[in-house]
Amino acid sequence: MDTQAAINRAQIITPIEEMIRAKAILAPMSGVTDFPFRMMARKHGCKYAFTEMIDVNGIVYKNRKSFRLLERNPVDDPLAVQLVGQDADKLVHVARLCVEKGFELVDINAGCPARKVVKCGKGSALMKDPVKFARIIRKLVKALSVPVTVKIRSGWEEENLNYLEVVRAAESEGASAVCVHPRTKDKMYKGKPDHEITQKIKMASKIPVFASGNIFTADDAARVLEETGCDAVFVARGALGHPWIFDEIENKLSGTEDDNSMTFEDIKDAIMEHFFLSVGYHGEKMSFKKMYKHITWYLKKKKNLDCIMKEYRKIETLEDLKEFLERLQLREGNKLELLRAQHVSAPTL
Ligand SMILES: Cc1cc2nc3c(=O)[nH]c(=O)nc-3n(C[C@H](O)[C@H](O)[C@H](O)COP(=O)(O)O)c2cc1C
Repeated sequence: MDTQAAINRAQIITPIEEMIRAKAILAPMSGVTDFPFRMMARKHGCKYAFTEMIDVNGIVYKNRKSFRLLERNPVDDPLAVQLVGQDADKLVHVARLCVEKGFELVDINAGCPARKVVKCGKGSALMKDPVKFARIIRKLVKALSVPVTVKIRSGWEEENLNYLEVVRAAESEGASAVCVHPRTKDKMYKGKPDHEITQKIKMASKIPVFASGNIFTADDAARVLEETGCDAVFVARGALGHPWIFDEIENKLSGTEDDNSMTFEDIKDAIMEHFFLSVGYHGEKMSFKKMYKHITWYLKKKKNLDCIMKEYRKIETLEDLKEFLERLQLREGNKLELLRAQHVSAPTL
């Protein structure tokens, strides 16, 4: 979408309203939510998506891979960008560039628990210093013409659940919305997210609140929306190998009868489609590597997944990939599969 079109649309409906209407948003996932993955999600009902987190240093120091993450494609819209950093000036510089490129919303990552991120004071480490965090948000809000949002955890550690302080700081400095993943940094992805915290944030905030954490099925989405009163949910691991989750959530929320059963043919088609999107974006050779994890996720319900993926590793051409999937189909038959999104452990970032 060009800048003028973005401005036109923004006059009709704001990005935050778009998120609220979407009800289920594709969460930022580093190494996952690239253009091909986002397109798969959009095809299956995703109405609002985020980029992977983009480290501002990568842009400031002109890293080619980081710049690629800022590329826009008119069919991949609406799209918010997520930045990770701890230096307010660098964040402002990169966020301005994002707005020039047509991103309609800038989100600041204050939740990433990865060691390489927090050791530099970024991601969830921002929650340790709400005053500094507030300064960053203030500068961004002042500098940008688009909404600034924040994605947080419940705190750095169980002993200091300072989510309300952090949300208040963001809100009072002009942040437009907050997304909470209610686990501490220390918990990483362990245990259940505590959505009572999401509810408390919602009750204490004037800005919209989005919930992230264990949205693996349409029922999860409906329950969390109902129990917390939040404005929308972010879907992360629930979409891995299961981009259909967005349609399922929409059907559930609108009361439409849905049938989640699929044949292996459907899964095979989805893998091929995802692969072709990947080839268009990453090139054929790179796609065989990039698609490895996605294919593992698409086939996660299969017995002998290790053996199947061993076979996959030998594949070098698209023709071989087609044959590999056809062989698998012959072996598996085309029985109906009840495909419910299920927990996928988070890769170490
Ligand atoms: C592979 C992976 C990469 C992630 N990368 C990001 C990221 O770049 N930025 C971010 O804010 N959260 C990131 N997250 C966290 C998710 O957005 C989400 O908050 C978290 O996974 C909890 O949701 P879930 O239980 O539905 O997966 C990532 C999660 C996973 C599994």
